[in-house]
Amino acid sequence: MCGIFAAINKQSVTRHLIKGLQNLSYRGYDSAGIAIVDHSGLQRRRAEGKIERLIHCLETKPLEGRVGIAHTRWATHGAASQRNAHPHMTSRVAVAHNGIIENSHQLRTELESRGFHFESDTDSETIPQLITFYLNLGLEHDQALRSALERLEGSFAIAAVFDDLPDCIFAARRGSPLALGYANGGHFLASDINALKSVADQACHLEDGDLARISLLHIAITDQHNKRVDRPRQVICEQQSNSDRDKQGFRHYMLKEIHQQAGVIKRTLGNYLPGADNTIDFPLLPFNLAELQRLNIVGCGTSHYAAMIAKYWLEGFAGLAVEVDIASEYRYRDGPVCASTPSLFISQSGETADTLAALRHAKQCAQHCISIVNVVDSSIARESHVILPTMAGAEIGVASTKAFTAQLTVLFLFSLKAAVSRGRINQTEKKRLQSQLTLLPSIIDNFLNSEHRILAIAQKLQNIEHMLYLGRGIALPLALEGALKLKEITYIHAEAYPAGELKHGPIALVDASMPVLVVAPPGRLFAKSLSNLREVSSRGAKVILVSDQQGIDEAQDYIDAAIAIPTIEPLLQPFIYTLALQLLAYHCAVLKGTDIDQPRNLAKSVTVE
Ligand code: AGP
Repeated sequence: MCGIFAAINKQSVTRHLIKGLQNLSYRGYDSAGIAIVDHSGLQRRRAEGKIERLIHCLETKPLEGRVGIAHTRWATHGAASQRNAHPHMTSRVAVAHNGIIENSHQLRTELESRGFHFESDTDSETIPQLITFYLNLGLEHDQALRSALERLEGSFAIAAVFDDLPDCIFAARRGSPLALGYANGGHFLASDINALKSVADQACHLEDGDLARISLLHIAITDQHNKRVDRPRQVICEQQSNSDRDKQGFRHYMLKEIHQQAGVIKRTLGNYLPGADNTIDFPLLPFNLAELQRLNIVGCGTSHYAAMIAKYWLEGFAGLAVEVDIASEYRYRDGPVCASTPSLFISQSGETADTLAALRHAKQCAQHCISIVNVVDSSIARESHVILPTMAGAEIGVASTKAFTAQLTVLFLFSLKAAVSRGRINQTEKKRLQSQLTLLPSIIDNFLNSEHRILAIAQKLQNIEHMLYLGRGIALPLALEGALKLKEITYIHAEAYPAGELKHGPIALVDASMPVLVVAPPGRLFAKSLSNLREVSSRGAKVILVSDQQGIDEAQDYIDAAIAIPTIEPLLQPFIYTLALQLLAYHCAVLKGTDIDQPRNLAKSVTVE
């Protein structure tokens, strides 16, 4: 998943290109580059590492021009290096690419046999080389581009500039997003609309198969049948992005976003509650919740864990059978897909390739598809029959926090709506749960006052190399999400297991060098979790218990540390327990000195499979 930005303007575009890459760095940040075309031809600057390294390169070797493309990379084929950084080019054409060319090896072999010389180890370099092959056959620029793209298998979004066309940029997409920006005095192109907010007034999304020719005063789009098309434009508002991109005094975006969760939950609730006569104001769903037999919920990573939590809510108090799937598995499973079973897709970015592909698979199977997304003009949002947006604002930290609890907020409301429509709870219980939900933001803010206690525990974990998280029931996805947070930002090997599975193998891992964190909210499973806790404690493990004070008191002889969670409505426990685990991971990462907002090897939006 990489970021593409391009600009054509009346004055130099270099500063726009750099700003665009900075706004897209969440998509990948292991190397970056720009290419400019003017009447002297193509010129390029590239640098390994973050965009600041490219800025330094441009300070020592400036490159200015009115037409340019830019790219920030997340390596898929070929190490993160200057040599493998985009744009890739020949003497004729420079290309920035996002996606994976699955037949790149075959194309490369074919081109090398025709005397073409490759300079990088990437799949992307086949694109400029193939375009050049067709140019050498005498094809016009757009024909050469289309012919080359037709040979590609896999996904791509590209921006291209030609050495002998210093007044236009070409763009094309198949499976990876691209948005066009319209502004006074120029045009822009970006991997997502957010990167256009500071430079363009209006934007539109290219669709798969589109090819756009972008000049200073005009944009011509042709579809996959080479027919002229116009894509609907939307006005893009800019003010939100500024506040989201400002750390507001916090040391990291992640910490800021952890602290924003009370406000995000309140804003998300406000979007749906109360509807007329105190209803939960959802858009019209393409299925009847009262009669539904089963629901699929699909996502990746943290969004998948949100789906797992929703399963406990929907089956537990709404009486609706739920099948949860990881998107990368769902999309390739050849099992029976029942058209009468709708699917719910969860994605913060709305651009996750596996989740988007799973959505398309479900639609091909004639399922009704709805999605919970944080980016309402994303690909998943635009291709869903109905969307239930979260109001988290732009989430900059790669590790998801506020978007996760915003997803849980929408999922809880969805479960509440399902429970009422299926006659599982009455209006009194619905109002009680809704009022508990509205108390959540203040409970969260109060809990943040005990952050120093979590810091103290993080200090004990500074030198660990492994950690086991255990949970039962709804605490299992909380343990999984907590372990993911620790993995992502501290690089500590953290694994989560169903506590009931411990004796079926994982307990062999337990000794004094394996700290174990047990997520055990009060409830009917607490006693069983306490037994698991004693089992690991008796084998020398250092144990951290996350529970309410009563649970901590009961387990005090077997634990080395504890995070006390306020007693709240049991159904709402996930919101607070996950907050504790976010803070623990965050403070461990601060102590480790890792790059918390842009951890190694990760990107915010996984737009390649
Ligand atoms: C979460 O902390 C991770 N960054 C990652 O697992 C993420 O949740 C996953 O890539 C799915 O992203 P999405 O919600 O944008 O689809």
